[in-house]
Amino acid sequence: MIYKATTTNGVQKDQAERLRLIMKNRNETDRAGKSHPRILTISSGKGGVGKTNIAINLGIAFAEEGKRVVVMDADLGLANVNVILGIIPKFNLYHVIRKQKRIRDIIVDTQYGIQIIAGASGFSQLANLQDEDRANFVDELKSLAYADIIIIDTGAGVSQNVLSFLRAADEAIIVTTPEPTAITDAYGIIKSISSEVMGPNIKLVVNRVNSMMEGKKVAERVINIAGQFLNIKVDNLGFIFEDSVVPRAVIKQDPFIKSAPKSKASESIRHLKSRLLDIRYTEEGGLGRFLKNLFGSKG
Ligand SMILES: Nc1ncnc2c1ncn2[C@@H]1O[C@H](COP(=O)(O)OP(=O)(O)O)[C@@H](O)[C@H]1O
Ligand SMILES: [Mg+2]
Repeated sequence: MIYKATTTNGVQKDQAERLRLIMKNRNETDRAGKSHPRILTISSGKGGVGKTNIAINLGIAFAEEGKRVVVMDADLGLANVNVILGIIPKFNLYHVIRKQKRIRDIIVDTQYGIQIIAGASGFSQLANLQDEDRANFVDELKSLAYADIIIIDTGAGVSQNVLSFLRAADEAIIVTTPEPTAITDAYGIIKSISSEVMGPNIKLVVNRVNSMMEGKKVAERVINIAGQFLNIKVDNLGFIFEDSVVPRAVIKQDPFIKSAPKSKASESIRHLKSRLLDIRYTEEGGLGRFLKNLFGSKG
């Protein structure tokens, strides 16, 4: 459950109380020694900026470090994590939501060291689930607690579904390209997240840059505008070079970090991975907080 910022004192007090309760519950979970997968969402304002490629290749880069990684495709419109990997799963999240399958039945091991959960357009029904179905789905997601890192490819835009994933995650990675339209839309999605009291930590990635300077300039622009007009801190996670290995890998259905490990795009991804692993990650949050935020306390 997420609480809108508001100006009335009474409501604020109430919110503070509820936040304290949430923090308390989180600490109790920590003491119980449960595992906490780190949850990263990959989102953008505009489509086609490279989210799915980043989700998969970053996931593989984490797996190369020995992490247990699950990449979940929560793109409602264009579910395609499995397509980029050349995998045709029999079942997807739709079947879990419909209670026809368990998560453990639909999760797919890949030859790249990551596991994937295929998405489906039927996933949009998540927003309209009855309490009982929602509780069932949350229980299913809890079975991912063994993972070290869960990467969620949310798709573009600020639909209710995308927002609920963003709010619930530990870290929201927002992807833009240097195109003015992508930058404007990136700002739009940052603005949507920032209207929440308990938002995730927001990190920016600039994809398809032709020089380091270009990446730096675009990132500074977004970060400065977000700071100035929204009073929200956005971290600069880094950039990814424009590289012909990316479209080639998509056509070959073979991720570029494997098919072209020395390419500029692969180097860029590894750089992002190192930055994400260097950043000290507190054990707070994780799957428990994610589920709580995604579905309220019903989970
Ligand atoms: N760094 C890059 N260099 C060159 N082309 C890229 C790069 N990143 C993405 N692309 C192109 O953009 C297309 C869309 O990428 P995709 O990951 O599917 O975006 P999204 O998931 O945001 O819709 C890719 O198929 C590829 O052709
Ligand atoms: Mg995509």
